[in-house]
Amino acid sequence: MTDTTENTTDSADGATGGDTAATDTPSTGTAGTGAPAGDGSRAPSRRALIGWGGAGLALGAAVAGGAVAVARPGEDTGDTVTAAGGPIAFHGTHQAGIATPVQDRLHFAAFDVETDDREAFVAMLKDWTEAARRMTAGKAVGDGAYGGLAEAPPDDTGEALGLKPSRLTLTLGFGPSLFERFGLAKQRPEALVDLPQFAGDNLDRARSGGDLCVQACADDPQVAVHAIRNLARIGFGKVSVRWSQLGFGKTSSTTPEAQTPRNLMGFKDGTRNIAGTETARLKKHVWVDEKDGPSWMAGGSYLVARRIRMHIEPWDRTSLQEQEDIFGRDKGEGAPVGKAKERDKPFLKAMKPDAHVRLAHPDSNDGATILRRGYSFTDGTDGLGRLDAGLFFLAYQRDVRKGFIPIQRNLATDALNEYIQHVGSAIFAVPPGVRDADDWWGRALFSSTTEG
Ligand code: HEM
Repeated sequence: MTDTTENTTDSADGATGGDTAATDTPSTGTAGTGAPAGDGSRAPSRRALIGWGGAGLALGAAVAGGAVAVARPGEDTGDTVTAAGGPIAFHGTHQAGIATPVQDRLHFAAFDVETDDREAFVAMLKDWTEAARRMTAGKAVGDGAYGGLAEAPPDDTGEALGLKPSRLTLTLGFGPSLFERFGLAKQRPEALVDLPQFAGDNLDRARSGGDLCVQACADDPQVAVHAIRNLARIGFGKVSVRWSQLGFGKTSSTTPEAQTPRNLMGFKDGTRNIAGTETARLKKHVWVDEKDGPSWMAGGSYLVARRIRMHIEPWDRTSLQEQEDIFGRDKGEGAPVGKAKERDKPFLKAMKPDAHVRLAHPDSNDGATILRRGYSFTDGTDGLGRLDAGLFFLAYQRDVRKGFIPIQRNLATDALNEYIQHVGSAIFAVPPGVRDADDWWGRALFSSTTEG
């Protein structure tokens, strides 16, 4: 009974946008966007149909079609039903999940490689790609969660049955330690540096590093968790989860026309981020250029992930004036010091010398600019009566040596440091997008070298 896994109209490639997907202007993958048939806009996914139940199929289809037909490319309508439902194209020049409008939820996982068998690892990357292609389209992995051989475990774990694609994006990265394996040493990009120790770092090795990472973003946390879980299941024996992080409440926006989200300190975060529609800035600061080298990274990006604990209890006992001085912006509107509106150009000299925005601003860092895509987290308590909460900071850039590193160094004197601590750290080379149905994650890297 393979129909448990199939979209009503499409092939496994259904929600993909071919070469047009996830280009500089990210697609929301919704109807009327040029997304191809089978993307869930014209025909609801099998996953959605199952969820609505047999009796409501016709109505369900109409509702789904109507809901996802509203949004246009790069547009965040602010309508969560619309925004939450549809798929995002998996295929494209760049991987989705970088310039794509930021989804509400995150499940991020770093993996260690367990095998020395290069062929087995490459086969896993191909299987991962196929599974990612299906899950981002709102379909179950392989032959689905039920209806297959009773004697074998199902291909899909099943917890996303009945859920919409939820704008799921899956973004793969390769950590520095991967290049110590499989004869890849010469392919390690110069820009994939080992991050230096920064002032104030208190890194937990168990929450740092990793040979590989997958960033799963979706508007439904169960869809993001399902995706990571199924990739981990497929990778069994070849990779194992080293650490993972759940995130909620995006703390950055790549859609300036939408309301800027707030971080757990209560401040608007992402005001001056690079927007997903700013093609020229993305080209300059985020996408690796052909001439940057190595060639397998052209169209890719570099990701720095930092688990930043916030000392929210002392923060909550800090006066409003001090909080605003620390950021250099006011708490309500988010306007820079001395200005009236959030989007007004910051006048850095009006801020305290140790204000976060003043120190992080490109003008204080020889133009260094990054694309932020972080999420809030709370992971229970620390056993001392305090919440283990903070910001899971994700930053994409063309070269970390000209992005995160100089900015983070300049933040050594940041007044915010009294209230935060970096407790986890990782860096990844994020290869370009998977171009089409024949392509797979890492093809350019593994094709550019033979084991030796
Ligand atoms: C828990 C830690 C952090 C918090 C709560 C935080 C919060 C904020 C807030 C509220 C803003 C102002 C609004 C905006 O333009 O987005 C901001 C700006 C910014 N932050 Fe952070 N941030 C944190 C860590 C970092 C780190 C680690 C970096 C990079 C190394 C960074 C880089 C930036 C940049 C580049 C800006 C924009 C500055 C501008 O162009 O005006 N932040 N941050």
